[in-house]
Amino acid sequence: DKAGHKHFMAKEIAEQPRVIGEALRFYLSGEGDTIRLPGEGIDFTAIDRLSMVACGTAFYACMTAKYWFEQLAGLPVDVDIASEFRYREPPIPARTMALFVSQSGETADTLAALRYCEGKAARIVSVVNVAESSIARESDLALPIMAGAEIGVASTKAFTCQLTVLLLLALEAAHQRGRISQEELSDHLSALRSLPVALNAALDLSGKIKNAARKLSESTDVLFLGRGLMYPLALEGALKLKEISYIHAEAYASGELKHGPIALIDKTMPVVVMAPRDALFDKTVSNMQEVMARGGKVMLITDAEGEAEASDQTWQVLVMPRIDAVLTPILYALPAQLLAYHTAVAKGTDVDQPRNLAKSVTVE
Ligand code: F6R
Repeated sequence: DKAGHKHFMAKEIAEQPRVIGEALRFYLSGEGDTIRLPGEGIDFTAIDRLSMVACGTAFYACMTAKYWFEQLAGLPVDVDIASEFRYREPPIPARTMALFVSQSGETADTLAALRYCEGKAARIVSVVNVAESSIARESDLALPIMAGAEIGVASTKAFTCQLTVLLLLALEAAHQRGRISQEELSDHLSALRSLPVALNAALDLSGKIKNAARKLSESTDVLFLGRGLMYPLALEGALKLKEISYIHAEAYASGELKHGPIALIDKTMPVVVMAPRDALFDKTVSNMQEVMARGGKVMLITDAEGEAEASDQTWQVLVMPRIDAVLTPILYALPAQLLAYHTAVAKGTDVDQPRNLAKSVTVE
């Protein structure tokens, strides 16, 4: 049932404020200022590092979480693509927690990576959507993301719910390890509780994104740029666009632009820049100027402060609500998804069942 939407993907994008609210209700205590993990929880003082493994969109959720665990909790993190991890057979130091992220819980490479960690990692934890899946069953602790069934092949609400649960874990780790006070934890959690409101405001940009997508749909290549927490999201935005619109898209960390990809810039290739007004914004603005000086068309996704500081030479600006900086990947995922969605609809591709793709990749 598409609940009045044209596609499951549109329905699942629109559901995000609600399902993220549900994940928060599941993981936050009554007062909303403590994180409550199921089962016996996780002792983050008993581990020295985290090894995160996943595929595709779930891998980008892990890449994002690396910034959170390292910056908030001071916990070193390795992030691997499951198909590489399983055959590289990396050494797993003692006091490593292995963390697997999978919507379906059945991805063959992720499951094989989990089995490789059995008997090696101190603890095997998974973040899954399908509670009765193989990955959930074979973990010491399975954490649900509460997204509900995801039908569209391109992952949307599962991604933002994965991010929500991973951020809660990073905050819990930071608190247990004495890196943030109860007051700081409460501040982050209160910002998280108001996230659904900001997500609704992001959904309101759908009409504007649809107009921009009509032009984007005429391109053959699109470049996505982001720094810090926006870098993994740039990768996710590019993946979403190529999956459903079949437009070639790739993403770079903004600082890498001058190390190669800037050679591609001309007036035919739109560049999507995701950049809330944060400590790295000035650097991103100078990257944008490098693009525009070469005739590149920039679509900037930022907040009101960022808009005020950006050059008026940008092709499009999408203005997002301003929120706690750690939450920006969850919020900025929505315009990335909507951009891919509306571009695919403008091209007339099969949004929910893109060619050559399967929802659950149970073979290598
Ligand atoms: C992208 C997408 C895939 C999956 C990947 C992992 O939109 O859906 O990249 O994210 O196949 O799947 P799960 O999370 O089920 O392990």
